[in-house]
Amino acid sequence: MTKVLRVNPLNPSADAIREAAEAIVGGGTVAFPTETVYGIGANAFDAEAVKKVFKIKGRPSDNPAIVHISSIDQLKDVAAPVSGELLEKFRVLWPGPITFVLKGNGELPEEVTAGLDTVTVRMPAHTVALRLIDAAKVPIAAPSANISGRPSATSAAHVIEDLDGKADFIIDGGNTMFGLESTIIDLTSERPKLLRPGAYTVEELKRYFPDLDTSEIILSENEAPISPGLKYRHYAPDKPMVVASDDMIIKAASELKGKRILFICSTETAKSLPKDSLAIDLGSRADLYRVAQNLFDSIRKIDKSDAKMAVIERFPERGIGLALMNRISKAAGMRLADSVESIEKLLK
Ligand code: TXA
Ligand code: MG
Repeated sequence: MTKVLRVNPLNPSADAIREAAEAIVGGGTVAFPTETVYGIGANAFDAEAVKKVFKIKGRPSDNPAIVHISSIDQLKDVAAPVSGELLEKFRVLWPGPITFVLKGNGELPEEVTAGLDTVTVRMPAHTVALRLIDAAKVPIAAPSANISGRPSATSAAHVIEDLDGKADFIIDGGNTMFGLESTIIDLTSERPKLLRPGAYTVEELKRYFPDLDTSEIILSENEAPISPGLKYRHYAPDKPMVVASDDMIIKAASELKGKRILFICSTETAKSLPKDSLAIDLGSRADLYRVAQNLFDSIRKIDKSDAKMAVIERFPERGIGLALMNRISKAAGMRLADSVESIEKLLK
């Protein structure tokens, strides 16, 4: 049985937090909102409880979980000592939508770290998450609160869709603010390395980490096509999805009219589509933060719709657009449609 606790995200009731924290202390699992996406968490020092989280998600045990803390002081409980210089950076960037891979201190069970000697830590900027960790008095290991491979959950409804009947508690704190998972920076090798882009733009990150290595992330410098054939899909709908430019979407919508294609696009593009096109409006191209907020919910709607496939708009990889396109490309299996025919082929 899953109990849903509805709270005010800015001022959650102490009773709800206490009930969820007691579940964490007692070895249970709790889904909770953060400023990025919802997490499904357990006491990071309780191997059996963490195992439950992985089982609930259907997540392979070789994929480590992020450990969430609520104070800088807690860092020493999970990570090896860090330099004063680094600590200063953490004090500025935390709480916030950014996660660091650090050397572990050997205290966490291998269920959390996947047996690696590193630990991945974040202090979320969300009152519910911070109060829950505070009340439980332990760091909380929490991957995103979705079935493995599906888009992360950005509302309690998404969590319920994936985890109802599996998690002990779901704290419903409304929609999450950013809608994309945190930035991850690996600080365990010589050069800080960006592993996953998030709400922080690369430009901002370079103020703190001037020699940040972004080589693995930049999908398409300038206008080069998105590289094809990366080995796995993530955040992916069951139905086929491709990325296309705004012009290609408008062209395909008129040439393939009535073929049950769902177009997921900016307000500007949606306005140019033929009437009675199937479309989801992600928000204005001028506000990519809004587009990011709506992304995972829109991808979840593809399989629920009666469309046969989806075509999603390509956005500029600038600012938060980098994280946005990183998720969109993965969800689309790195497929970029360069002609109407290449879209039509996927209908068969
Ligand atoms: O915004 C977020 O980060 C959300 C909220 C709940 O905090 N959490 C989240 O967790 O997205 P998850 O488990 O879905 O994604 C964490 C990613 C995974 O891709 C995992 O492989 C990577 O972080 N990761 C975890 N520990 C790592 C490590 N020691 N080295 C490299 N990558 C690591
Ligand atoms: Mg995840």
